[in-house]
Formats: sequence, C-alpha cells, structure tokens
Amino acid sequence: MAEVVIVADEDAAGALVADAIVSLIRSKPDAVLGLATGSTPLASYRALAHRIAAEAIDVRGVRGFALDEYVGLPPGHPESYRAVITREVVEPLGLTPELVRVPNGDPATIRTAGADYEAAIDAAGGVDLQILGIGRTGHIGFNEPGSSLASLTRVKTLTEQTRLDNARFFDSPDEVPMHCITQGIGTILRARHLVLLAFGSAKARAVAAAVEGAVSASQPGSAIQLHPHATVIVDEAAASELENLAYYRYAWANKPDWQRT
Ligand code: GLP
Repeated sequence: MAEVVIVADEDAAGALVADAIVSLIRSKPDAVLGLATGSTPLASYRALAHRIAAEAIDVRGVRGFALDEYVGLPPGHPESYRAVITREVVEPLGLTPELVRVPNGDPATIRTAGADYEAAIDAAGGVDLQILGIGRTGHIGFNEPGSSLASLTRVKTLTEQTRLDNARFFDSPDEVPMHCITQGIGTILRARHLVLLAFGSAKARAVAAAVEGAVSASQPGSAIQLHPHATVIVDEAAASELENLAYYRYAWANKPDWQRT
C-alpha cells in the first residue's frame, strides 16, 4: 500500500516534499523530476526553492517533465502549463529551462506529441520522483475516470467538472480548453517514486478512493496502489474519509530511520 502521511497543512507537506527532493538531488545531481501543476504542489515548490537557495544546492543538471498540458492555447498563454511550470518551478528553483519539458499542446503536431514525449522520458532514463495532485473527479495528471491503467501520453477530453474546477485560472469557464495532452497512467506508474498530495475536504473522497478503494480505471488515482513506492501526503481534511487513519498515523509515528527513503 501507499505510505499515508497526515500533516497539519500545505507547508508541512512542502517541507517533506522538499526533503525528499533535496536528498534525491544530492545523490543524483541530474535527477529527473515529474512536475504537477494546479494549486496543490505550490507550497512544495516554494519550500524546495527556499532549501535550494538556503543551502546553495546546484540544480543546473536537474531535469523535469510536466504531467500535462492543454491543447490549443496560444503559445505564451499565461495559463498554459508551459507558462505555469516556467513561472512556478523553473524560475524560482533556478532550473535549466532547456532541461524541463512540457507536453506539446500545439494542434499542428498533436498526433505525434504523445509518442515524442514518451521517447523523451525514456531517453532521460525515466522519472525519479513524480509529484501528483488529484482532481475531484479522481484524475491524476489529466487522466479522467475511464482512462486505461496502461495508458501512455496522449490526448484526452476533459470532463465538465474539471473544466469548471480549472475555470478559476481563466477569465471565463468557456476559455478552459476542452482537450489536453497528459502522461498516461502507465507513464506515471513507471516513475520510481510517486508522491501524491491533497489538501482540503473537496479532495477527501478522491483520496479515500485512491488509497483504499478498488483499483479501477473509474478512479484513476487508485492506480497508485499498483506502485511499489508511493507516498500520499494529506492534511486532516483531505484524510477525513480514510478508514485506516489510525494505522497510518501509528506507522508514521513509529517509522524507524532505517525505513526512511
Ligand atoms: C489539474 C491538473 C492536475 C492536478 C489536478 C488538481 O487540473 N491537471 O495535474 O493535480 O487538476 O488540481 P489542483 O491542485 O489545482 O486542485
């Protein structure tokens, strides 16, 4: 099962994520990070930026692959995930821009964009640590319910719920693209360590389904149960529908040093 860690707030989660990434980079200066967008990972990126600056960690060789991108936004659109990753990750962390890739959502090349992205991840040797959020529909990346658990990077149609959830980033809900290109669930499962973050009661059902529900394409987040090294970091509200809460707290409180990764 996934290791479930219940924390007080997003900053506490960010400190844990920053710890894991800093130790990864120290042992592998050209580590490959899997980068999520959305609101959820922002505190982790802030914590990581702070650690990198405070400890003068050399991140020039660190590589990155974003999970997903909208299809058809004009180049440079501020809410394209390319722009978000540049603004929230590449610049504050001081990563080398050429080493951080985002799926290409240009309709002109969309037919080959998925295979190209898979090839680039393979050429990089795979993702070492994949940060994940989870949508209210249970999606990871943009793999909406029904996505094959073996899927690779490809175009998907967003649900109306996800478009509404993401409308806050746009001037109007109609502006949220209907299509996206996302790493598949099979792609995500190839990463060597998954770190899924969720905060707030709106995510509680999706978290419970991902961690304790049946493994099913209807709940894309449940695919983490197939992964040998998955960490789920949640606040109390997002954890509130988990049945085995007491056990997760007990396991975390009694985690020996030799079990830490
Ligand atoms: C977004 C992203 C996902 C993200 C999820 C949750 O649309 N494509 O990668 O994990 O939905 O978003 P948020 O973190 O803003 O709640």
